[in-house]
Amino acid sequence: CGIIGYVGPRQAVDVIIAGLRRLEYRGYDSAGVAVQTDGRIEWRKKAGKLANLEAALADQPLPAATLGIGHTRWATHGAPTDENAHPHLSGDGRIAVVHNGIIENFDVLRAELANDGVRFISQTDTEVAAALLGREVDAGADLTHAMQAVSRRLEGAFTLVAIDAQDPTRVVAARRNSPLVVGLGTGENFIASDVAAFIEHTREAVELGQDQVVTITAESFEVTDFWGQPVQTSRYHVDWDTAAAEKGGFDWFMRKEIFEQPKAIADTLLGRYSARGELVLDEIRISPETLRRIDKIVIIGCGTAHYAGMVAKYAIEHWVRIPCEVELASEFRYRDPIVNPQTLCVAISQSGETADTLQAIRHAREQGSHVIAICNTNGSTIPRESDAVIYTHAGPEIGVASTKGFTTQLVACYLLGLYLAQIRGMKYGDEIRDVMDELQQLPAKVQELLDHASTVYELAHQLADQEDYIFLGRHVGYPAALEGALKLKEIAYLHSEGFAAGELKHGPIAIINPDMPVFVIVPPQGRDQLHDKVVSNIQEVRARGARTIVLAEQGDEHVVQFADTVIGLPTVSTLLQPVLAVVPLQLFACEVATALGNDVDQPRNLAKSVTVE
Ligand code: G6P
Repeated sequence: CGIIGYVGPRQAVDVIIAGLRRLEYRGYDSAGVAVQTDGRIEWRKKAGKLANLEAALADQPLPAATLGIGHTRWATHGAPTDENAHPHLSGDGRIAVVHNGIIENFDVLRAELANDGVRFISQTDTEVAAALLGREVDAGADLTHAMQAVSRRLEGAFTLVAIDAQDPTRVVAARRNSPLVVGLGTGENFIASDVAAFIEHTREAVELGQDQVVTITAESFEVTDFWGQPVQTSRYHVDWDTAAAEKGGFDWFMRKEIFEQPKAIADTLLGRYSARGELVLDEIRISPETLRRIDKIVIIGCGTAHYAGMVAKYAIEHWVRIPCEVELASEFRYRDPIVNPQTLCVAISQSGETADTLQAIRHAREQGSHVIAICNTNGSTIPRESDAVIYTHAGPEIGVASTKGFTTQLVACYLLGLYLAQIRGMKYGDEIRDVMDELQQLPAKVQELLDHASTVYELAHQLADQEDYIFLGRHVGYPAALEGALKLKEIAYLHSEGFAAGELKHGPIAIINPDMPVFVIVPPQGRDQLHDKVVSNIQEVRARGARTIVLAEQGDEHVVQFADTVIGLPTVSTLLQPVLAVVPLQLFACEVATALGNDVDQPRNLAKSVTVE
C-alpha cells in the first residue's frame, strides 16, 4: 500500500492526490483521502484506481485544508470495496487513520472494544486502530501520546498515519516493519511510504527505524520510540531525478524500463571494476576472512528476483565452487532451514520491502549467517537489515512486472560471484577480466536487441489470439524461460508455463497441441553438448505440431530448420545469456498485453511491492 501525510500551507488534498499518483504502483485497488478543517475531519474514499477517487472529489470537493492523509490500498484483510478503503475513522469521527500492513491481534482488540460498546462499520484491522486512538484522545492524550500508547498494544507489521479533528497542527505516524519516510520541506512536512510521494516538493528525507513514532507539524518533526523516548535520526538527500519517474514518451512505464536496460546495466557495473583488473565492491562490509570461511550460499527472493537467483546459482557454483541453494523466501522462512555462521545468505529484492524476503533474512541472521542484499531501492528495509548490500542502481522501477530490475539483478549476481571467486582465489586477473569484458559489452548487445523490437512486436500481433504458451530452456536458459512465462502471466493474463527443456519428455510434453507457441532458448554454440541437447528438444515439440519460436545465437544454422521463427541473440557466453534472452520475452509480453487492452503497468491482482507475508 502507499501512504502519504501532509501538513503545510498548500491545499492538502492536491498535495496528497499528487503523492498518491506517484505511489499508485504500491497498490491500487482502492484509494482515499482525509483532511482536517474547522475542528472536523472530512474524507472521500473509493474502490478501484485513483481515478475513481479523483472523480469522487470532482463531484464532491473536499474543503480547503492544510493537513491531511491519503492512502492507496492493496487489499489484504477485507475485499477491495469503498467501505474497506482507507482512511478509517473512529466511531465519533474524531480520528482518521490510514494503514499499511496487518495488525495480527486485531480480533482480540476488536472484541475488547466491542465490549466497551464501540461499533464497527468495516471488517478491517485499521478501524480497530482508529477506535483505539479515539479512546486515547478522548481520555485526554494528545495524538502523539495516543499513537505511542496504541502502538505498544499492536502486534504484526504496520505503518499507521493519523490526524485528529481537534488538532490542526500535527500528523502522527507509527512504524513497525512497513516502510515509512519523512520529507522535510520549508514550512511544510510530509510522511510517506516512499520518497516518490513527495519528491516534487522536497529532496530532504529522514528514514524511520523500527518501532518509532513520528510527529510532523508545518515547522518541525519529532521522532520517538513507542515509549516516548526521543531517538536519533539521520537526514539524507534524495538524488533521484524527478523525470526518472515519468514515462518519457513511452506508452507504459514497463516499456520505458525495458528500453532503459542498457543504461541500467551499465550503471550496475559502474565503478565496480578497477583499472588494476580487480572487482571493487566497497559496499561488501563482510571481511574477506569471513567470506573465505563460507561453506554454503543460500539465495532467496520472490517472483522475478527468485529467477535471478536461479541464474546466480549456475554462475556462482561454476566460478566459486561453493554449494549454492536457491529458495523462494516464503518457503525458506518456515521450514527450519540449515543456516549458520558459515552460510552466506544472498537476498535479492528490487523493492527491498518484500515481506517474505525480509522475514527470511531476519531468520538467517538470527541463525548467525551473513546476509548480502542485492537491491534497487536505496535505504529500503532489506538492505538496512542486511550485513552488506549491492545496489543495482537501475533507477525507480514503476511497472509492476519487473524488467530492468531483473537484468540488473543478474549483473549484480555475476559481480558478486566474481568477487567471491577473487577473494577466495578461485579466479585471477585474466579470467575475471574476460568475464568483466563480456559484462561491459552487455549494454550494447541489449541495445542491439531493442533496436529490433519491431520483429518481436510483429510476432506478438501474429500470436495475439493464442491462449497457451510454453517456454523452454536448459541450464541458465531454464530460469530465463520461467521469467518469460511469468511476464506473460503477469501482464497478458495468459496461461504460460516455463519448463526445463530436458524435463519436457517426463510429462509436460503431453500438453502440447498443434499450433501451440513454444519459445525455446538455445544456448550459444559451444564446445559442450548443451546446445545440441536443446536443439533435440525443439525437434520433440515440433514433431507434436507446436509452433516454435527459437531464441538462438545469431548465425546458428542448426536451429533454422526446426524453427517457425528465429530471434537472433548477440553472441555471449552461456552464463550471461539470460540477460539477452529475456529482453525479447519482455518485449513480447508487453506487446501482447497492450494488444489485449490490458493495463500493462498495473496488472490486475498484483502489486509492485508486497509488504505482507
Ligand atoms: C511482487 C512483484 C513481482 C516481484 C516480487 C519480488 O510479487 O509483483 O514483480 O518480482 O514481488 O519483488 P522484489 O521487490 O522483492 O524484487
